[in-house]
Amino acid sequence: MIPNIADFKALIKDRVGLHFFNGMEGLLNTALLQRMGERGKESSEKYYEKLCVSTSEFDKLLSLLTINETYFFREPEVLDMVCDKLVPRMLEQRGGPVRILSAGCSSGEEAYSLAIKLHQKYHDHFAARVEIHGCDIDTKILDKARAANYSSYSFRGVDPLLQQNYFTRNGNQFQLHDLIRSKVTFHRSNIVKEQLQPKFDIILLRNVSIYFDDETRRLLQFNLLTMLQPDGALFFGNAETLANNFGILKLKQEHGLFYFCQPKISRAQVASASVKPVVMPAAAPCVADPVRATQQCEIWIKKALECVAEKRFSQAEEWISQVLDCDIHHQEALVIKGAIALEKCEFEQTAQSAQHVLELDEWSAEAKMLLGLAMMWQHHTQQAIAWFKQVVYQQPGYWPAHYYLAEMYRQSELYRPALRTYRITLQLLNAELNNTSNACALRLPLSFPSNSFRFLCEHQLAQFTGQDGQ
Ligand SMILES: C[S@@+](CC[C@H](N)C(=O)[O-])C[C@H]1O[C@@H](n2cnc3c(N)ncnc32)[C@H](O)[C@@H]1O
Repeated sequence: MIPNIADFKALIKDRVGLHFFNGMEGLLNTALLQRMGERGKESSEKYYEKLCVSTSEFDKLLSLLTINETYFFREPEVLDMVCDKLVPRMLEQRGGPVRILSAGCSSGEEAYSLAIKLHQKYHDHFAARVEIHGCDIDTKILDKARAANYSSYSFRGVDPLLQQNYFTRNGNQFQLHDLIRSKVTFHRSNIVKEQLQPKFDIILLRNVSIYFDDETRRLLQFNLLTMLQPDGALFFGNAETLANNFGILKLKQEHGLFYFCQPKISRAQVASASVKPVVMPAAAPCVADPVRATQQCEIWIKKALECVAEKRFSQAEEWISQVLDCDIHHQEALVIKGAIALEKCEFEQTAQSAQHVLELDEWSAEAKMLLGLAMMWQHHTQQAIAWFKQVVYQQPGYWPAHYYLAEMYRQSELYRPALRTYRITLQLLNAELNNTSNACALRLPLSFPSNSFRFLCEHQLAQFTGQDGQ
């Protein structure tokens, strides 16, 4: 490693937010050595001085450091939601054009995917209805975005007919038709510090914040707050959403997808509005004496759990609402509320309760499990996988999460991971049976009968063995 690497790390993080986590220092070191070599074996001290004053040198180094991985129609469910739900709704509510930003757009595939989808929807009326912008910090990659000439690597999983309709083959490359190309405008902008204006209705900022640390992500949220319209929507990549939930922008769930929007009223107002006195059925009002209130809540929780076990969900809900009237942030009550909603197939309510819990405790495995199940029942398989993976990571002994993860892999035709995960589930179930496990239980009022799940696991494993003799 070059001796003053820490100075470079600090300079880059300060300017553009990129954080070189320990495993990534090698990338920075290699890029620095390359630039210093190209500049005639300059010393690292001299090079640092140069970097502080020269924007063009900073840009050259940055082009070696940014990770520009992208492809057309990546995480397509978000693009569907934007084009089929949000844009039509915004156009209906207040006319056009709807302004969309692909932030950290890299070589432009995301912005052009939106343009293609919206062109398919609105044909020639497209221009009057939507404006699409892309921005990135890396000037070199923006040149590539503007050129719109791609190798087959950018088309992983793209419908060949769509590729044929919108691109012209030129040797090994595919040139996007001008009709679509001209619909997207690209800008060099630092999303952490600069504010593109006027405000946007929809911002996609996917697979960018993973390179930032918490401090930068928080800063970024404040910046995005000023760039987003009052009824706008901001999407992070599926797996990034939680790490960006600082309570600055409000997290919303729609059709199994999460996005951020402007908070309508401040958190303090929300709290005071939601604790307005409610006339309770029979039970005594609480709060006056905090110790008594806590004891009372415990009694109500116990009663709610008894009702859930007997599948008397409406009564369970009544007990839970008493607890929540006492304390709107009662974590266990929120988890139970989410579980009851799940039993009643009210998945949006499950997700809302679980998100509330995660706002209070981002490590709640119970909330993540509820989200995984809610996504699974709504057939949002990729999101379900993301949540179950988090549970498995946090609670490796919790076999129901492994089991459902295996199911989601199988449904996504990811057979190898499915096979591996069923095997793990079975091992955990057997260990539980032999009392040799360090299996754990989550505080979730959902029943997962071991025998049935063991049978299901064995059945799935037998299917795999039958298929390829593994
Ligand atoms: C992995 S790509 C993501 C591309 C696309 N959003 C997607 O999801 O496929 C990350 C991009 O973010 C850009 N980026 C990193 N820091 C940035 C910043 N501070 N402002 C704007 N773009 C940034 C990088 O240059 C890179 O092109």
